[in-house]
Amino acid sequence: MLNKFLDLGKQPIANGFLYKDQIKDEYFFNLGVAFDEDTKLITQTEYVDPPLMFNDEYVYRGSMSQTMREHFKELSGVLWKNDSPMPKILEIGSNDGVFLKHWPTDSTVAVEPCGNFAKETQDMGYTTYAEFWTTKLAEEIKLTNGERDIIFAANCICHIPDLYETFKAVDILLKPNGVFIFEDPSLAEVINNNSYDQIYDEHPHVFSVIALDNLLNRNGLEIVKVKNLSVHGGSNRIYAMKKGVGSIHKSVEQNKSYERVLGLDKMETFIRFAEKVEQSKDDLVRLLRKCKYEGKKVISYGASSKSTTIFNYCGIGPELLSYITDTTPEKQGKLSPGVHIPVIAPEQGFNETVHFAYLGAWNFIKEIKNKEKDFVDGGGKFITHVPTIRVV
Ligand code: TMP
Repeated sequence: MLNKFLDLGKQPIANGFLYKDQIKDEYFFNLGVAFDEDTKLITQTEYVDPPLMFNDEYVYRGSMSQTMREHFKELSGVLWKNDSPMPKILEIGSNDGVFLKHWPTDSTVAVEPCGNFAKETQDMGYTTYAEFWTTKLAEEIKLTNGERDIIFAANCICHIPDLYETFKAVDILLKPNGVFIFEDPSLAEVINNNSYDQIYDEHPHVFSVIALDNLLNRNGLEIVKVKNLSVHGGSNRIYAMKKGVGSIHKSVEQNKSYERVLGLDKMETFIRFAEKVEQSKDDLVRLLRKCKYEGKKVISYGASSKSTTIFNYCGIGPELLSYITDTTPEKQGKLSPGVHIPVIAPEQGFNETVHFAYLGAWNFIKEIKNKEKDFVDGGGKFITHVPTIRVV
């Protein structure tokens, strides 16, 4: 049974950056968040139809940050050592090939529903299926390319509404002793950081290890290891295998018991979380209004999908934030979804005229602070809502 605990209001497609003449056709949905008493999954009350989000105009590039480029390079080094046989890998949601590029083209297969990115990895030499991940596709790949030693997905499984279909498809294509490795934002970190902006159309679920174990178990799989990661504001890398095949690492029970201490298996925890979210909204709007009143120029740094949730939930538009800077060419020159703040290249607007920059990409704070030393040395300040509204 679904128990709704949070209403983030009317929201647009989080990565739906648009031109002025597209505003009249902009799509909105109601973003409600619920706790499933049965599986303990945190999930949305209404799912957006995937092709509305993942299509040939998709703009999010995994390779845009140094942190993520290094993250995938390091992981590839862990998954394959020079003296072992090359594993047959398949990546679900390969985006612009930021992980894939560390693997050989002849034995690696990619699945990517966004046609623009599927074409990029195809051009890099990888067999790429420009489709959504389904049991039908898994059967087809099994016949054409063979079963896989590793099925990998980064920031992708939590994007898929139907987890039963997803895990069944993994079970079809995984070798009997193969490993399904996936990483997504961690619910424990969302609660600890009050990072409610991890919830947007593309993230229909936020995963706890407890909920994933319940769901994988119902689909012939089980978690054999969990690794906590710092990326994307705190994520978990889950290693799962077919039931009964692998030995279970102590990290699985450690993570589950930590989550029980946090109360991630209880509705009360999420009611308290919803109260903190509302407080965060009030505090952010109050701070931005104060800056405006004092004649300060405030912009946003990083047109992240997460900030779409914040700006639309809090009702923050161009009257409070002059513009957003972002390094992604596909976002520049457009307006942000829903509240229509102009997005420009950092070279055009991240300069000494800016007093405060709201960290839309707060999860890259280390990388950004290193990169923007001149801004900070010149008296510029960043604003973040994580874990509470503050100037840093
Ligand atoms: P994400 O949090 O959804 O990964 O989005 C982060 C956005 O921030 C992405 O569009 C790239 C952008 N970005 C910058 O503009 N400058 C930066 O230094 C970093 C790290 C990210």
